[in-house]
Amino acid sequence: MKTFLHAADLGNFETALAEAAAVKNDRYQFEHLGRHKTALLIFFNNSLRTRLSTQKAARNLGLDVIVLDVNQGAWKLETERGVIMDGDKSEHLLEAIPVMASYCDLIGVRTFAGLTDREADYSENILTQFIKYSGKPIFSMESATAHPLQAFADLITIEEYREKRRPKVVLTWAPHPRALPQAVPNSFAEWMRAAEVDFVITHPEGYELDPLFADNAHVEHDQMKALEGADFVYAKNWSCPGVTNSEDYGKILSRDMSWTVDENHMAVTNNAYFMHCLPVRRNMIVSDNVIESPRSLVIPEAANREISATVVLKRILESI
Ligand code: CP
Repeated sequence: MKTFLHAADLGNFETALAEAAAVKNDRYQFEHLGRHKTALLIFFNNSLRTRLSTQKAARNLGLDVIVLDVNQGAWKLETERGVIMDGDKSEHLLEAIPVMASYCDLIGVRTFAGLTDREADYSENILTQFIKYSGKPIFSMESATAHPLQAFADLITIEEYREKRRPKVVLTWAPHPRALPQAVPNSFAEWMRAAEVDFVITHPEGYELDPLFADNAHVEHDQMKALEGADFVYAKNWSCPGVTNSEDYGKILSRDMSWTVDENHMAVTNNAYFMHCLPVRRNMIVSDNVIESPRSLVIPEAANREISATVVLKRILESI
């Protein structure tokens, strides 16, 4: 595997899930793969889970790890070609990428959506430049539009907790005070469409996810109806993807607190497990009682980030 950006990069899910189970059983069994190799993890924005779990995964595989926070301690980077660099940005990505690549064998990149220009965000300008100019395997640690390491951890978690062969999985939008990217719901939709589940998305009108990720997914705008009989409820806020009206891209179209997942919502499910990628705003996205209930999977889900990252880095190391 030379890049990890989408579900298709992982290949057959059954094989990947078996590999994840084997890694979880003995996470150091592939320690030899990373010997005398270095992973560079580059963060263009904040992170708790991705930062820690990916470092742990790299160490499981015997890799040395360098972490760079671009906005803390590095030169400010210009990312657009053709710009007259007379402002506060001292270095261009086109020099920085090959320099950084010369110190490592594989690179994880964390970027973030600007949420002002749909075309710019969905072109994945920064990630694309890393792929083009680094000459090294690149894996996404969340980009402007996708979060595949999270979606893989979510898939592993559903596999571990499912009580039937084909569970009903509902992705529900929930309110949030700030505009958030679509990366997590995009990837979750992409991965669930390819998984052995009955997948339903519910959100207020105007929040339709990009067809690149959610094409032909079952969308039900009545949240309670969507949640009926659910085995897994995955809550997440996202800002307007601008699919039906590009001028609304990145905006907050609804603050409707009746979408906050509480005990009344969970009562219509099939005693569903609750999932969220974290960080989560309590009593905006989910009530205290639901997130603290025995059916909440938010902690095992976050713990599985180490497993998804170990499998992905292992696949990359096997290919170089
Ligand atoms: N879920 C997730 O990616 O968390 P962080 O933003 O803390 O890495």
